Amino acid sequence: MRKLKTAILISGRGSNMMALVDAARDPAFRAEIVCVVSNRADAKGLAFATENGIATEVIDHKGFPTREAFETALDSYLRSCGIEIIALAGFMRVLTAGFIARWEGRMLNIHPSLLPAYKGLHTHERALADGATRHGCTVHLVTPELDGGPILLQAQVPVLAEDTADTLSARVLEQEHKLYPQALALLAARLSKEDTP
Ligand code: GAR
Repeated sequence: MRKLKTAILISGRGSNMMALVDAARDPAFRAEIVCVVSNRADAKGLAFATENGIATEVIDHKGFPTREAFETALDSYLRSCGIEIIALAGFMRVLTAGFIARWEGRMLNIHPSLLPAYKGLHTHERALADGATRHGCTVHLVTPELDGGPILLQAQVPVLAEDTADTLSARVLEQEHKLYPQALALLAARLSKEDTP
């Protein structure tokens, strides 16, 4: 079984990245985590990647004059690693349509809501303010429409009367850590079928 070469892009804590790295230890998992890239040198998740023998790269967006120049550097690094799938895991930079087109069908994102509800930021606060009774997370393919690409998988959680944004986000995050590995495995299986003549 060929494993698809995967890069994980982070900006901070990296708990979803950790869940993907842990899942990819299974010999039967169809994706290999080749590198973890952060746009911030202080991203907490980088240490975990290094400790687990995964190549890390910091490409600081602040060092580039334009969004496109940053993305060109990111794209060249990913191509130099032979990357076939990108998993955005708390990567907090909006990517341009040009970059997204170059990775069409090969870039995943995890979002902390039941899309199409609550695109964008502060999803838990907004769900609570609306009195939503269910909430959750979504893994979708990335398209130029922010948080709008085709959905691969979703997981639901109940919203409890006593919830705060913190308790709700912790309940959702637990599901994110299960959902993202499943979605990555699904995409890798699909893409490896396409590759087979
Ligand atoms: C996760 O909850 C993820 O769904 C969210 O950021 C958090 C990152 O946590 N992503 C977005 O809001 C993207 N719009 P992590 O760094 O511990 O994985």
